[in-house]
Amino acid sequence: MERDTVLLKDSGEDIAAAAELIRSGNVVAVPTETVYGLCADAVNEAAVRAVFAAKGRPADNPLIVHLSDFSEAVKYTKSIPELAYRLAERFCPGPLTMVLPKNDRIPMITSGGLETVGIRVPSHPVMHRIIQLSGCAIAAPSANISGLPSPTCAAHVMDDMKGRIAAVVDGGESRFGVESTVISFEGENSVRILRPGAVTRKMLLEICEEVIVDPAILKELEEGSIAASPGMKYKHYSPKADVVMVEGELDRFIEYISENYGENVYSLIFDGDADNFPYRYVTYGADSEEQAHFLFQRLRELDEIGADKVYVRAPSKDGVGLAVYNRLIRAAGFEVIRV
Ligand code: TXA
Ligand code: MG
Repeated sequence: MERDTVLLKDSGEDIAAAAELIRSGNVVAVPTETVYGLCADAVNEAAVRAVFAAKGRPADNPLIVHLSDFSEAVKYTKSIPELAYRLAERFCPGPLTMVLPKNDRIPMITSGGLETVGIRVPSHPVMHRIIQLSGCAIAAPSANISGLPSPTCAAHVMDDMKGRIAAVVDGGESRFGVESTVISFEGENSVRILRPGAVTRKMLLEICEEVIVDPAILKELEEGSIAASPGMKYKHYSPKADVVMVEGELDRFIEYISENYGENVYSLIFDGDADNFPYRYVTYGADSEEQAHFLFQRLRELDEIGADKVYVRAPSKDGVGLAVYNRLIRAAGFEVIRV
């Protein structure tokens, strides 16, 4: 349904207007510290349906429910392990989503048909205020069209959502640039990372005895196997260009590009690679934090400049680098070349 999408500002008046729109069943895009989210009242089935429709998202891919404080989680879950409280104390508010058994207040449409719900307490002041003012638990997937890179600024949201939702709140660039770390609980002191993010394995190990990295983070799911997180099934974060990840030293990377160069072929490389790089390129930061911050923005830029093929220099898998690697390997449809 075509309609006007209002651009709201990061002001008291506009934030109140956004909260009221959500409270009354509309869909509004809101900045968070990870990426922009497409927000709706999590217990309003019609509003949640409108989120799925605006994104073109498969109905079996659950939405994360955002709360103003982790103490609110008891209202929407059946039970909360002690470990979750310890993690919340350290990482909430922040870029961590905990998968917990849901209770009946969370509709099946919100949980994508699962008996669990991902709970997150975002730290971004605008999102936090909107949750408080609306009085809602807010279901929010990333505010992109399903399959495209997540938006890290209001302009990217407008590119995807103009005419599809009620409003976008402009809160500047998202700090982390990749979506939250999603974890599930394995045992009393053990968690599993279903999607890596800015809360890293090392950080989780400060609180947990064991942190399992789900194999689907780095490898394609085998046909017929069940995804621990439905999002793992889908090709993701993909620009229109064909993305290929190239793993290896810079001189080998350059050699590989020289053999595969052509019209509208681009390289996505590290800042430090750019001196004397002999082919068309775009850079995406010098370290893992910067690469996380810039990745989605650069993938969108590559589309704008008309790239047909993008060879990406494979990032480090350390720290938040694991999240960058995970998004890129999905953008590349698991096509990795070792040189
Ligand atoms: O940082 C973020 O998490 C952003 C901001 C807006 O909060 N949200 C976000 O939502 O990235 P979305 O819907 O784009 O990605 C949520 C991911 C999906 O891969 C989904 O499959 C997984 O989390 N997920 C959500 N609920 C789950 C559940 N109950 N069990 C397993 N995986 C779940
Ligand atoms: Mg998403």
